Amino acid sequence: MAQRGTTRNGVADKIPASDLPQPVKIQQVRYTKIFINNEWHTSASGRTFPTRNPATGDTICEVQEADKEDVDKAVAAAKAAMQLDSAWRKMEPPRRGRLLHKLADLVERDRKLLATLETLDTGKPFLQAFFTDLEDETYLCLTRHEPIGICGAIIPWNFPLLMLMWKLAPALSCGNTVVIKPAEQTPLTALHIGSLIKEAGFPPGVVNIIPGFGSTAGAAIASHEGIDKVAFTGSTEVGQLIKEAAAKSNLKRVTLELGGKNPCIVFADCDLQMAVEEIQKGAFYNQGQCCTAASRVFVQDRIYEEFVRRSIENAKKIVIGDPLDPQTTHGPQIDQQQFEKIIGLIESGKKEGAKLEYGGGAVGEKSLFIHPTIFSEVKDSMRIAKEEIFGPVLCIFSFKSKQEVIERANNSQYGLVSAVFTTSMDRALSVSGALETGTVWINCYNAMHVQTPFGGYKMSGNGRELGEYALAEYSEVKTVTFKMNDSM
Ligand code: NAI
Ligand code: MG
Repeated sequence: MAQRGTTRNGVADKIPASDLPQPVKIQQVRYTKIFINNEWHTSASGRTFPTRNPATGDTICEVQEADKEDVDKAVAAAKAAMQLDSAWRKMEPPRRGRLLHKLADLVERDRKLLATLETLDTGKPFLQAFFTDLEDETYLCLTRHEPIGICGAIIPWNFPLLMLMWKLAPALSCGNTVVIKPAEQTPLTALHIGSLIKEAGFPPGVVNIIPGFGSTAGAAIASHEGIDKVAFTGSTEVGQLIKEAAAKSNLKRVTLELGGKNPCIVFADCDLQMAVEEIQKGAFYNQGQCCTAASRVFVQDRIYEEFVRRSIENAKKIVIGDPLDPQTTHGPQIDQQQFEKIIGLIESGKKEGAKLEYGGGAVGEKSLFIHPTIFSEVKDSMRIAKEEIFGPVLCIFSFKSKQEVIERANNSQYGLVSAVFTTSMDRALSVSGALETGTVWINCYNAMHVQTPFGGYKMSGNGRELGEYALAEYSEVKTVTFKMNDSM
């Protein structure tokens, strides 16, 4: 028997030499093609590449060489297998578990063959390839949740104080220090918070607030070698720049809360008045300057006309005016640039043939106020159906079937929030499972809580804010492993 510690083959060192597993003889390697859709394919280009044995330098065999076209084929297969009605998506977890166990059994069955192939390919000693585990040692492992370090935060202007807190609170809870840049349009509440940080007695340097512009101060945060994480809320376009800057500098951690083109699905069996009011809150709240804005409202054909009629009635109750007046429910847009973007999109809606039902332009001249606007007969191909408007524009579409509306709702690069209005619990649950968004509201809108995670699928972002999930975004997990010599 080999002495413990005299060789480096791990578990094998404690097995009598006569009992050690032996490599299998391989005349010819069997599987050398591209595996897609459970089938073996030759490469689209016809090319192969050799795989060599580092112990001899000999070619073991030629393998089919995949390139972009083969990747496309594999992605198409994986996409088909991911469809909602596919065998894999419909499979219950216990059955997935049985498949994984079956696979483990088969790996066990072919263990010697796998270890032999691994040795031929890598040159790693056969017994190390065969015994990859550490079966009979005893270890105690613990995890430490540590701060990431210096966290940058780049904040938008639509909810300046709220967005600041969504980042500041979890960052400080986890023990990080922060450098925050408020939006250039809205620096004042952030700066006041600075004074409160000092008054509360935080040590100097823990919170730093730097008002400034995006392409200068913001970009400097994203690419800074001394910043360990950056959290951003704003446009998808800038989100991409931030991730790129993070990748090119120090691979700092990145969380992004970006745009949305949020679908609301109103089924004929819903409480119609409630749906009208909730959706309108969703569309016009904060002058529509919300990543969560209800901007694509799909209404089932049977109640479509009534929904449009009641939406117009409801919009008439909106009070436009001085935002400091407590009677006011609708104020100005943030700045000229946003104002022009919104007006431009409203004009595109008119031109592309949507039916203007209410509002449709500026309130008076030389102001940043825009009338709450309702379009009906909106088609999926129109700009107002695809682009984030970030203004008070409600777009109403009509649909017939559940299947159809799910497909249309998911047909977007965004995936932030969605809403479903129905009195059928079964329908609410099945549709909420099918929608590709980070949040689904059932019979409500903009219902957010500090305990519930918030964030996007697809190009609406990476990571989650709020709730316990936010803490994970502001901490590193360290595994500390002790070898136990005094085990039972
Ligand atoms: P933006 O994404 O340019 O600005 C948001 C924040 O990012 C600001 O603090 C800005 O100074 C900063 N920033 C801008 N360029 C930067 C860069 N290159 N590097 C680092 N930081 C940078 O958004 P903007 O221009 O104010 O609005 C454009 C559109 O973005 C809006 O119409 C809306 O569609 C969307 N938006 C979405 C928000 C959300 O809550 N998800 C918030 C604000 C805007
Ligand atoms: Mg910008």
